[in-house]
Amino acid sequence: MSTGSLMEHSPYCERDIKAPEELVTFDEKGDYVIKVKKGNQVVSIHYEFHPFDVVGWDGFYFPWIFNINDFMPITGKIHMPPPIHQTFAAPGFVICSFCPRLLDYHPLAVPIPYNHSNLDSDEMLYYVDGNFASRKGIEFASISLHPNGIPHGPHPGTVDANLGKKETLEVAVMMDTFRPLKLTNFAKEMNDPKYYLSWNEAEPIELINEGQ
Ligand SMILES: [Fe+2]
Repeated sequence: MSTGSLMEHSPYCERDIKAPEELVTFDEKGDYVIKVKKGNQVVSIHYEFHPFDVVGWDGFYFPWIFNINDFMPITGKIHMPPPIHQTFAAPGFVICSFCPRLLDYHPLAVPIPYNHSNLDSDEMLYYVDGNFASRKGIEFASISLHPNGIPHGPHPGTVDANLGKKETLEVAVMMDTFRPLKLTNFAKEMNDPKYYLSWNEAEPIELINEGQ
């Protein structure tokens, strides 16, 4: 979380953070289970009444919304590195928003990311919307995980295919974690074991997703 006011060059401001405007009260009886995490353990607490039976709220913790469409991307003459998309920072991880924007505008700019390895973080990307269908191995709602140290970047042919491109319509959310992510069994079931082979073929691609 940030402390103090967001500066004028921030890609969003306090006005973009939406807090609840009305309280919806559920005055109901039943068996309501609240999962509480303490340390590494999750315990279940059963209530005989709906936990949302309050008529008012005051305190330090409350739900709030930041809509990714309110993120105003910062663009540059040459390629801007991923931290320019940073939206949140928390202990152990950051969240970045890749939103529709104009691409690098230097006449000789290569408007896609360079190949790289993250030496200090795992990189997880969730592809929400936009024109990434032509990126190999990626489709709507795909999640990619590039662990710490694994080289990755544009697919073969994409540099030439993207020269002169003026804008991207992508929407993607990235989480970089500073300690390794561990796969759950559910995640292992979704795993595409051939993803790493998507860099193998040197076929031209019209437009790739920028958020790498
Ligand atoms: Fe990356």
